[in-house]
Amino acid sequence: MNFYIETYGCQMNVADSELITSILISAGHQLVQNMDQAELILFNTCSVRAHAEERVLGRISNEQHRKKTNPNIKIGLLGCMAQRIGEKLLESNIGIDIVAGVDQYNMLPAMITSDGDFPVLLDFDSKQVYHDLMPVHQSNTCGFVTIMRGCNNFCSYCIVPHVRGRERSRPWKEVYADVKRAGEQGLKDITLLGQNVNSYHDGDIDFPKLLKYLNSIDEISRLRFITSHPKDLSDSLIEVMSSSDKICEHIHLPMQSGNNRILHEMNRNYTIEHYLSRVNKLKHAIPGIAVTTDIIAGFPSETDAEFEDTLSVMQELSFDYAFCFKYSPREGTDAAGMINQVPEEIRLSRLQQMIELQRKITYTKFRSQIGKCVEVYVESFSKKSDSFVSGKTRDYKIAVLSGTESDIGTLKKATVIDATAGTLICE
Ligand code: SAH
Ligand code: SF4
Ligand code: F3S
Repeated sequence: MNFYIETYGCQMNVADSELITSILISAGHQLVQNMDQAELILFNTCSVRAHAEERVLGRISNEQHRKKTNPNIKIGLLGCMAQRIGEKLLESNIGIDIVAGVDQYNMLPAMITSDGDFPVLLDFDSKQVYHDLMPVHQSNTCGFVTIMRGCNNFCSYCIVPHVRGRERSRPWKEVYADVKRAGEQGLKDITLLGQNVNSYHDGDIDFPKLLKYLNSIDEISRLRFITSHPKDLSDSLIEVMSSSDKICEHIHLPMQSGNNRILHEMNRNYTIEHYLSRVNKLKHAIPGIAVTTDIIAGFPSETDAEFEDTLSVMQELSFDYAFCFKYSPREGTDAAGMINQVPEEIRLSRLQQMIELQRKITYTKFRSQIGKCVEVYVESFSKKSDSFVSGKTRDYKIAVLSGTESDIGTLKKATVIDATAGTLICE
């Protein structure tokens, strides 16, 4: 069959779609880049906020017309939302034919050809790490490599542990082989993925040791990882980051809130003082490191004063970028059952304040790069002009500079001559 896959949510899902592609191609199916050519349409979905789910439901309903013109078309629901409510959605006859959960992707070829004998497979498999699969990378420049699956942290607002199951690490040798192979295919910028990469372990190999091994792979130029949990970010990780040439000067370290009572209610297991000391240590050990974060506005029972604490930490730390989210209650999580839910309009107004503050901070940060020499890994033509190319700096900022097709996939030294709140203009 010709299959098309549309991916929502985090990079973990992007990487899973690359695995799914590999599984289906090995079974003789063909990936197509246009939905019009597909007989099998797959949605790899996200459940992290209500909005993520609503978007997919809208997409599924929009594509139903295709089944009228071609009754052979099948629609499959995969990923976190499939895991959470896929069975219910299948029964509600909204036009889904197959539902496969996050540990069941090896079964997809059988599900597709079985003619509806087993349309739903959602069992968790606590050992599932998809051994011996070669992901089909979507990009020719930047690659994602999953190093662990699942999460054990149960932050009180978060659905991820409920839909992705318990944490497990992939064998370090498989990770090493994947990174090397990606490098051989020309992908120079590799991001390691896990919900909490700091708790990676395979026997004696912990995360800092894994990074040391991967740093020795000649075929790659840059190494990154997401996401780090502040409670587990060790001194030995900071040491390895500062001494390994390929590990980029960037860390994504979700803060979630700047107030200790809220952090406690979120079950984050650190204080804001701990968070600040980790960031300061990183900044000291790795000069120029960019720090990005995630923050939630309007967690249940958050007062105005507690929200102000978050704004003041944002000022103090001046993150290079912050992904700001409005708290979204997720059924089955502890926070969804808390009695003091913050009214929607207050959540929204707090979100807007955070976004506005961060926009100013990001603008100042980007402007402060003017005059600096940066390394740009050119990934594509710029969106605005064919005489410009675009890529990322080591510290994860988008940069544009004049260039041609032959520059794509190469590393360029450039000087920053101008900046907006999202792009460095380089020469
Ligand atoms: N494992 C990562 C990312 C998890 S999801 C981590 O621990 O950081 C990405 C981000 O979504 C989270 O960091 C959090 O800020 C946000 N998020 C998760 N659940 C949410 C919810 N119910 N409402 C709003 N934002 C949420
Ligand atoms: Fe969710 Fe917390 Fe796990 Fe991140 S660490 S995936 S926020 S439960
Ligand atoms: Fe990622 Fe969304 Fe699942 S953030 S882990 S795709 S719930």
